[in-house]
Amino acid sequence: MSRTRVHNLSISLDGFATGEPQSREAPFGHAGQRLHTWMFATRFWDEGGSVGVDDAFAVRHGEGFGAEIMGAHKFGPPGWHDDPDWRGWWGEDPPFHTPTFVLTHHPRPPLEMEGGTTFHFLDATPADALAVAREAADGLDVRIGGGPTVVRDFVAAGLVDHLHLVQVPIVLGRGVRLWDGLEALEDTYDIEAVSSPSGVTHLTFTRRAGRPDPA
Ligand SMILES: NC(=O)c1ccc[n+]([C@@H]2O[C@H](COP(=O)([O-])OP(=O)(O)OC[C@H]3O[C@@H](n4cnc5c(N)ncnc54)[C@H](OP(=O)(O)O)[C@@H]3O)[C@@H](O)[C@H]2O)c1
Repeated sequence: MSRTRVHNLSISLDGFATGEPQSREAPFGHAGQRLHTWMFATRFWDEGGSVGVDDAFAVRHGEGFGAEIMGAHKFGPPGWHDDPDWRGWWGEDPPFHTPTFVLTHHPRPPLEMEGGTTFHFLDATPADALAVAREAADGLDVRIGGGPTVVRDFVAAGLVDHLHLVQVPIVLGRGVRLWDGLEALEDTYDIEAVSSPSGVTHLTFTRRAGRPDPA
């Protein structure tokens, strides 16, 4: 059964997965690179990087996926809709290597990149987008790649089977928060936490199967 998974979504102690304002010069706004310092230090990111707890979690981002769904604000900075030449942040060979569905209210024709990534632009509900991505994933899992708005919408719609968050010990104070509207998530997920010597905490939320609703 194809599952829907989120991996390596990095949040501050106060729950922000990006700072503000987002721009071409600062994709994460005032957060800069601080949400992902832990990841840049791993072998997953850099051949000479660490191979401990952080790397063990990070590599799962690449395992077993046949498609990704991402939000319009992950795909590009504010205003990319008006730039017909915008092809994403990642160059001609993006790191997805699968069909990649960009949720946007401004769809455009698909963009075929090198290395197996094709960006498809979809204006659809989370459930409909997931059905399309599942079909494309051909039995493999679908990654919800972010940003926080899209992850939150898919979790709220009950469509996420496994959510891996990385809580980074910084307080951002502003940006886009993951948690708003997700009250009592702990009722439907088993939650585990693993502290890393790097200072981050890996949190996994795995959807409970067939457990009666406590209400
Ligand atoms: N911390 C991390 O690990 C992590 C991971 C990934 C990304 N990020 C960061 O997160 C930020 C982006 O996150 P975000 O929460 O601002 O935005 P987002 O989730 O990337 O995108 C939200 C936007 O996608 C479009 N959209 C969403 N659902 C849709 C639907 N059902 N139908 C049609 N369009 C839909 C809408 O844009 P339009 O109406 O404009 O089309 C919406 O405003 C970026 O800074 C990115 O770098 C962080």
